[in-house]
Amino acid sequence: MCPECKEAATRKFEKVCQILDKYQRDSSKLIPILQDVQKVYRYLPEEVLVYIATGLDLSPAKVYGVASFYANFSLEPKGKYVVHVCDGTACHVKGSEHIKEALCKKLNLNNGKKTTDDMLFTVEAVSCLGACGLAPVITINEKVYGQVTPEMAEKLIENIWAEENN
Ligand code: FES
Repeated sequence: MCPECKEAATRKFEKVCQILDKYQRDSSKLIPILQDVQKVYRYLPEEVLVYIATGLDLSPAKVYGVASFYANFSLEPKGKYVVHVCDGTACHVKGSEHIKEALCKKLNLNNGKKTTDDMLFTVEAVSCLGACGLAPVITINEKVYGQVTPEMAEKLIENIWAEENN
């Protein structure tokens, strides 16, 4: 890459560059680097993975392989608010399916669509959130809500809408 292109890429990916520097561009720190980068973009864009690969002197395939292996990494854009609905056994028997249905209906997420058109919400089912005693459980951006009813879940969405419109 010529110096001008390298400088332009560095400007474009300034935050990624700072994260790479934070970890001294150590390729053994790829996972924490990807975690930090995902916090910036809320997912891992392909062009960013290529930039990271260059910065760590790894092949893009290696970086993509790690990013696609772990469920916590997303290669797709996600909404500002990520709602995880637990469908593990404890939550399932307490009606988590109805919570997910209510959320999807409220957010107009049909046919397996996970993210709203305005990129405000992503709704995903997960297998266990580690709070089975509070079943049924959801998280919104990792904040845990227990003993959730469909009505409560809808209210949480309404509260976020109200906050966002203030
Ligand atoms: S099964 Fe839902 S939190 Fe564990």
